[in-house]
Amino acid sequence: MTELEAIQARHSVRGYLDKPIAPETLKKLREKVGQINGESGLHIQLMEEADGVYGSPISRLSGWRNVPSYFALVGPEGPKLEEKCGYYGEKLVLYAQTLGLNTCWAGIFRAKQVWAQIGEGERLVLTIAVGYGATQGKPRKSKTFQQVTELKGEAPDWFQKGVEAALLAPTAVNQQKFRFTLDENGEAHLKASAAGPFVNVDLGIVKYHFELASGRTVK
Ligand SMILES: Cc1cc2nc3c(=O)[nH]c(=O)nc-3n(C[C@H](O)[C@H](O)[C@H](O)COP(=O)(O)O)c2cc1C
Repeated sequence: MTELEAIQARHSVRGYLDKPIAPETLKKLREKVGQINGESGLHIQLMEEADGVYGSPISRLSGWRNVPSYFALVGPEGPKLEEKCGYYGEKLVLYAQTLGLNTCWAGIFRAKQVWAQIGEGERLVLTIAVGYGATQGKPRKSKTFQQVTELKGEAPDWFQKGVEAALLAPTAVNQQKFRFTLDENGEAHLKASAAGPFVNVDLGIVKYHFELASGRTVK
């Protein structure tokens, strides 16, 4: 499975099989985390045991079960920290999907149960559960191309492909509060269309999907 195929196949999965991630797969995930941290300056950590992190009554009520492992998204505090966590975290999500794993982003979790290293000046922004899903999840409602774009004329093919992939991106509470535009030089821009929980994390996630599918960068 390619990353583009992973965009289509991925859905949030909150219930997992009671099965640890295979050692060779963990090794691949650790290598990917190292590569991403090198590229981004983040301090993301793969936590092999998720004991209790998703065990609160509210998590259980919303279907969280048997999460074996998770990524702790930690990084140096700064204005772009949340967006960076979104962008690079989604790289891990899609990579995990290509390895036959399932994931779910989680802004709600028991921070006190997270044993990740958080250095001076760093912050734990959120987590991503990872493991073998009890199911593959399912498609959900989505905004339309028109609802998330503001255009003067016809959009080029690469822009349409990018927005379609962006609409498949996970966002907090499925809020999809983002807007794509094209400037007079034909360059794509992305911004939040309203306030909302983790909206800057969402922007990073959506940006990664758009860039992957369109082959262009977004400002
Ligand atoms: C930044 C962020 C935070 C999220 N936090 C939670 C959470 O705390 N609990 C939860 O059950 N799902 C959480 N989600 C998952 C979203 O509810 C899910 O991505 C959205 O409903 C879209 O569904 P899909 O991922 O299957 O496309 C989060 C997603 C994102 C992107």
